[in-house]
Amino acid sequence: MEKYLDMKNKKTYEDLTIPARIIKDGGIVLFPTETVYGIGANALNDNAVKKIFEAKGRAQDNPLILHISDMSMLEQIAENISETEYKLMERFFPGPFTIILNKKANVASVATCNGTTVGVRMPSNKIAHELIKMAGVPIAAPSANISGRPSGTKMEDIFEELNEKVDYMIDGGECEFGVESTVVRVVDEKVYILRPGKITKEDIEKVIHNVELDKHLLAPINNAENVLSPGMKYRHYAPNTKTILVYGEDKKSVINKIDDVANTYNKVLILALSEYKKDFKKYNVIDIGSKDNLLQITHNIFSALRKIDKYDVDMAIIQGVKPEGIGLAIMNRLIRACEFNYIKI
Ligand code: TXA
Ligand code: MG
Repeated sequence: MEKYLDMKNKKTYEDLTIPARIIKDGGIVLFPTETVYGIGANALNDNAVKKIFEAKGRAQDNPLILHISDMSMLEQIAENISETEYKLMERFFPGPFTIILNKKANVASVATCNGTTVGVRMPSNKIAHELIKMAGVPIAAPSANISGRPSGTKMEDIFEELNEKVDYMIDGGECEFGVESTVVRVVDEKVYILRPGKITKEDIEKVIHNVELDKHLLAPINNAENVLSPGMKYRHYAPNTKTILVYGEDKKSVINKIDDVANTYNKVLILALSEYKKDFKKYNVIDIGSKDNLLQITHNIFSALRKIDKYDVDMAIIQGVKPEGIGLAIMNRLIRACEFNYIKI
């Protein structure tokens, strides 16, 4: 059976009956969302969900997000939902937003790693929405990548890596936002941001006043600590090439620092902001986008990280952005890609 479906320019969705059937029958399907591609399975089928963990080589204690197409699906998987939680869902569903809720007993234990909670997201991407609706079940889906690698945001980046591992692939073109959803959990009416994304602290504060950033968003996790979001403790987004993240406000100091670092290596690659490209003419450069257009950077960043290893250099120097608003989502991913090897000027 042909297992690749090109939906890039399709205006209708009837072709999705094939992957929807595969999900119903216990298979796993690669599909686009507005954030990153996901590898999906019927969340209520333990055997199907197990295949996702195998395909990714994912740690057994790292739960999956359940994707729903409408609020009636929510009742199948979560319970005891508070007013604050409803308010957040009303405002941010559908979209790049995941909320950790109390789990209903019937949810497959594999997807939630036997926990008492479940991460729920309602994607706004039309293909994802139709796929879930046609499958008629919540779809458990992590980002589409082998664990530890950058998340996949376009088919050409992940085809080789995942082609043999999934039952079907839906190509929806490049993911619009490019970085995974914001993950939150409400405890005692307070919203904790466990993973930053397009929905920022400031966005959430417009709905609920009491919002706090998890202290690990830009800091390493000591393994002994009990983290609210298990995914945060694993090696993430990292190329095989050595990488370092450099960020500062003053352009001249940033250029000098990057030159200093670059001079200690034979061959370097710089993932540079558009504004600095001409200052790094003597090096290999990948333009990651303008510091004044963070959405351009989120759109490009995982693909750029995936290109690093193709350059065969001794060091890749990555320019950071101001860790505020959407910049926090970018820095949270870059700092992990560099395994906390970070120079702040
Ligand atoms: O944008 C996204 O969220 C993408 C697309 C495919 O929807 N999905 C995604 O899934 O990024 P994944 O598995 O790569 O990241 C999910 C994160 C992990 O850090 C995981 O630990 C956390 O969400 N998570 C999931 N369920 C949880 C739960 N019940 N409690 C705490 N954290 C949870
Ligand atoms: Mg992931």
